[in-house]
Amino acid sequence: MNVISVVSSKGGVGKTTVTANLATAIARQGRTVLVLDLDPQNALGLHFGVAPNEMRGVSRATLAQQSCKSVVFESRGGVYVLPYGIVNEEDRSRFEHYLEAHPHWLGGLLQELSLPGDALVLVDTPPGPSVYMKQALRAANLALVVALADAASYAALPMMQRLVQTYCVGQPHFLDCLYVVNQTDSARQLSKDVTQIMRSSFGERLIGAIHLDQSVGEALANDLSVLDYESNSQAANDFRACAEKIVQRLQHSRHFA
Ligand SMILES: Nc1ncnc2c1ncn2[C@@H]1O[C@H](COP(=O)(O)OP(=O)(O)OP(=O)(O)O)[C@@H](O)[C@H]1O
Ligand SMILES: [Mg+2]
Repeated sequence: MNVISVVSSKGGVGKTTVTANLATAIARQGRTVLVLDLDPQNALGLHFGVAPNEMRGVSRATLAQQSCKSVVFESRGGVYVLPYGIVNEEDRSRFEHYLEAHPHWLGGLLQELSLPGDALVLVDTPPGPSVYMKQALRAANLALVVALADAASYAALPMMQRLVQTYCVGQPHFLDCLYVVNQTDSARQLSKDVTQIMRSSFGERLIGAIHLDQSVGEALANDLSVLDYESNSQAANDFRACAEKIVQRLQHSRHFA
């Protein structure tokens, strides 16, 4: 099993969108893929047709000391989905204190799910440092940093690098930190410039650029991944290419079947 934690220091850069679409692209290769929503916004399930009023999820199950196996949904595309769930403010706070007190909770949870050896788990996180991001980074084989092709996103990257340095580097299972630039627009010079700067800063670790594409928003409005909604769109092609790079990167590691 390999864990890819999708993170960013800034909000709204496309973590949830990237998590959902990469998961779909990788599952299409015949691999077992589970997505875990560690964000109280509980939005990841919407990309997979989980009902917006579905209360069950990892937060409730953990507080009730129940197995999370019972709250894994299977999407039409064959991706397994473990939502955050819906909790009141008091329970959200209790869950966060629990995670603070049990820093390796996520590793234990994933072991308990007994996924096949070649399974991939993609973890979606809230923006910026949080108890959720810390859990996700500690358990990660790969950290996948999402940034927009703009100056503010680029300026926020050092903070994310410090977090990866603190929580991932030194963990025996950690392999690498990869980057995706999202919502690129070849009609905008700034977008091209920032993408180019990221390419020269990160080299092969920048695994792809996802174009700004209206089919991304339309797909979500239809409870579908972009790959299912408009398979030939620019964004669908970009997600497939990124998924390929991730699988290649993992195949170079001894953990991947
Ligand atoms: N490549 C893209 N092209 C067009 N729209 C996009 C693209 N990527 C993301 N979006 C849109 O940008 C918005 C934010 O995306 P998303 O919710 O995935 O960001 P996020 O990083 O998960 O946000 P948060 O930090 O709040 O969790 C959504 O409306 C989404 O549809
Ligand atoms: Mg999100």
